[in-house]
Amino acid sequence: MNILGIETSCDETAAAVVVDGERELSNVVASQFDVHARYGGVVPELASRQHLDAITPVVREALERAGMQYTDLDAIAVTYGPGLVGCLLVGLTYAKGLALALGKPFIGINHLEGHIHAVVMEQRRAGSPAELPAIAMVVSGGHTHLFLIEETAEQGYDYSLLGKTRDDAAGEAFDKVAKLLGYPYPGGPLLDLLAPFGNPKGVALPGTRMKGNQLDMSFSGLKTAVLRHVQASDMAEEIAERRDALKGRGRIGVEEARQATPQATLDLIASFQYRVIEELLLRAAVAADETGARSLILCGGVAANSGLRARFQSLPVPVYTSALALSTDNAAMIAAAAYPRLLRGESSPLDLRAQPNLKLAQ
Ligand code: KG4
Ligand code: ZN
Repeated sequence: MNILGIETSCDETAAAVVVDGERELSNVVASQFDVHARYGGVVPELASRQHLDAITPVVREALERAGMQYTDLDAIAVTYGPGLVGCLLVGLTYAKGLALALGKPFIGINHLEGHIHAVVMEQRRAGSPAELPAIAMVVSGGHTHLFLIEETAEQGYDYSLLGKTRDDAAGEAFDKVAKLLGYPYPGGPLLDLLAPFGNPKGVALPGTRMKGNQLDMSFSGLKTAVLRHVQASDMAEEIAERRDALKGRGRIGVEEARQATPQATLDLIASFQYRVIEELLLRAAVAADETGARSLILCGGVAANSGLRARFQSLPVPVYTSALALSTDNAAMIAAAAYPRLLRGESSPLDLRAQPNLKLAQ
């Protein structure tokens, strides 16, 4: 089954062709990095306009790289939420038009289910499918969720929500702390590069204990603790200098970032990253223990973090992640998530609406 996946929920216009939910023939991602970098974050209006410009060439390129014609496609899968509504609409409308013109089934996919299936796909391809029931930890710029995944004959993949962040997402915390310290957007990958040069015990940052559901998380207090540390340590001048030096520089390499960062700040970055990782790890460990899950799927943009990937290997269940290109937003993951649903005969009506706050499970 040749599935075209389309993903436009945030700031990447992406299209991919995946065969049988397993073999990626193409995975094209047009990043809007340069457009949003100068504003320090994603500007929704600009993002939708960029998607409009990019969607046709990106889909065409995905087909070309796969060596296929439109008529070779068996189904079109597209993200219909959660995400920015103007962005979702571009991909959704395009996918509907294409499906209608080709007379092929069309299916709307939840972006978070996509992130999970990036890993499911890679494990299937490797011949070692993730053992179910599994815990999925989805950590991205917009989401930090813990799900239990089961598979039943009646329902296919079935998700239940075990816990989530009550405020900022983990990726959002990375990006906000990076911005606070004078690094350009998106700061997550940059902090990941810098953290190994600092002492993770250099600055004591508080963990969070949640009232109610122990598997819920919170990252805004941690961000405030970093801010307090910055204020108490008179870092304003250093930060302003760094902001000026790195402004509008596009992608910055580790050497350049390191040169702009004194040791005390490297220690702060390492301590922040350590704290985020420990918070996530603690919830993952409790969730695995309480549910008796047989494996853990770590996915979403923040799953690209090297410290996080390494630390999660200490869990008592096998931990699966995907290659970096499949961790951040892409469309192969959308096609992969669609495959088991299409196999079961599912499809979506052509009046499916974009759902900015779509939930994967309650
Ligand atoms: O999944 P994703 O591409 O988009 C959303 O669905 O949000 O995730 C993007 C988020 C951003 O917050 C980015 O800073 C973060 O993932 N991120 C990282 C790393 N790579 C991406 N955070 C920490 N370390 C990384 N290596
Ligand atoms: Zn995402």
